[in-house]
Amino acid sequence: MSFSILGTGSALPATIITNDDLSRIVDTSDEWIRSRTGIGQRRVCTTETITDLAYQAAVAALENSGCRAEELNLIICATMTADDATPSMACLLQQRLGAVCAAFDINAACTGFLYAMDIAAAYFSRKPDYKILIVGADAMSKAVDWQDRSTCVLFGDGAGAAVLGAGNDLLAIEIGANGNRSPLYAPAMAGNCPFRNDVKQSLYLVMDGQEVFRFAVTAMAQTIDRVLQKAGLAKESLTWILPHQANIRIIDAAIHRMKLPGEICLTNIEQYGNTSAACVAILLDESNRSGKFKKGDLLALTAFGGGLTTGACILRWNK
Ligand code: ACO
Repeated sequence: MSFSILGTGSALPATIITNDDLSRIVDTSDEWIRSRTGIGQRRVCTTETITDLAYQAAVAALENSGCRAEELNLIICATMTADDATPSMACLLQQRLGAVCAAFDINAACTGFLYAMDIAAAYFSRKPDYKILIVGADAMSKAVDWQDRSTCVLFGDGAGAAVLGAGNDLLAIEIGANGNRSPLYAPAMAGNCPFRNDVKQSLYLVMDGQEVFRFAVTAMAQTIDRVLQKAGLAKESLTWILPHQANIRIIDAAIHRMKLPGEICLTNIEQYGNTSAACVAILLDESNRSGKFKKGDLLALTAFGGGLTTGACILRWNK
């Protein structure tokens, strides 16, 4: 027993920030951002909170699944930018949705949605009749330094969600981490304890772009290969790959390494940039709603992120 996807949803902030808008804030250009990353614009929270977006994505996923919030047995939110450290985003959602169930957040940075799927799969092995809401939501606009052109151009805000129910459509999943902080970290609450003496850290996300780039290409190719092996499938049997949307050059290089045709890869990085834990979830919802998936399609989802975390899975589309 694994699970089936019963419905998906996503939500984005209303405000669009183009590359040209950014070139008025930092020393950059549309040409540099597009050619180095594939990003044309991103959405940024102005009046919405990230919990608002997670809620809208959850409502859309529930509607798409035909499930009522009261039927949910568990809510898992993947985020590194929740509005509060406590209550968790999942608890805030639980109340707003009117669900009566356990709710908790997890943080695996951009890999969070895959981690949430893996945790959900473990629940289904104990509780096959559960209905679980998983959400990937991040407002990276709160984490980056808007004076730092090497990071602020890469990210956007958004949320994606899926309702999972009884079924056998998760064919294989694998998550991992190497614990390496230096390529990418973002500070947590510093507090104002008068007894601490340590060196002041950056207030914003810090990233060694080239190191993350090298890690990501290898991770994407290797994780897909491993879940294919676990599922006993050849790469040629995949219908679609839904990769983390960090940089189009990472995606292209990994697809080239896997000797797969570029058309197999779904992307929306041009419109949204890297929305961290929401990337794969938004892509899943948009492809579901646009009718891209046919019953029986085999999807590979893959992500990497701070941690450094990795995750991939093979899903049979059965909706
Ligand atoms: N506009 C103009 N110039 C820029 C910009 C910018 N926005 N950003 C950097 N540059 C400059 C640099 O200062 C450098 O200038 P220099 O040569 O005078 O020193 C030059 O461009 C080249 O910089 P590089 O870092 O070598 O550029 P690169 O081609 O490696 O691209 C990038 C940088 C886009 C960050 C790339 O390395 C990348 O995408 N890395 C992966 C990032 C990623 O995947 N992050 C995901 C995080 S996942 C999570 O969990 C949050």
